[in-house]
Amino acid sequence: MSDWQRAFSVEEIGFGSWKQVDLDGTIVVIYNVDGEFFAIEDICTHDGAVLSGCPLEGDEVICPRHGARFSVKTGEALSAPAWEATATFPLKIENGDLFLRDNRWD
Ligand code: FES
Repeated sequence: MSDWQRAFSVEEIGFGSWKQVDLDGTIVVIYNVDGEFFAIEDICTHDGAVLSGCPLEGDEVICPRHGARFSVKTGEALSAPAWEATATFPLKIENGDLFLRDNRWD
């Protein structure tokens, strides 16, 4: 089980925006969706495109290469050509700072 890692202050991610963080070698994107924060791996499961930098539509991010949609809340692939979810990571807020950890091998 990995330890919680501080990412950054919640004030650094405004509504509707995102920020990347390196979590023990895995690039993760943290999104602010209407004041709630969600973290997914920064990779499209179709063919490996980077998802960060793409605009949010509600709680969905659209892959720039072939248009697959992912829920940033659940990581679920919502449309072809991606079928597998991208990984999600638990987040917590302490004293105004965001922390995340990698629970994929718990
Ligand atoms: S690489 Fe993302 S949809 Fe193809």
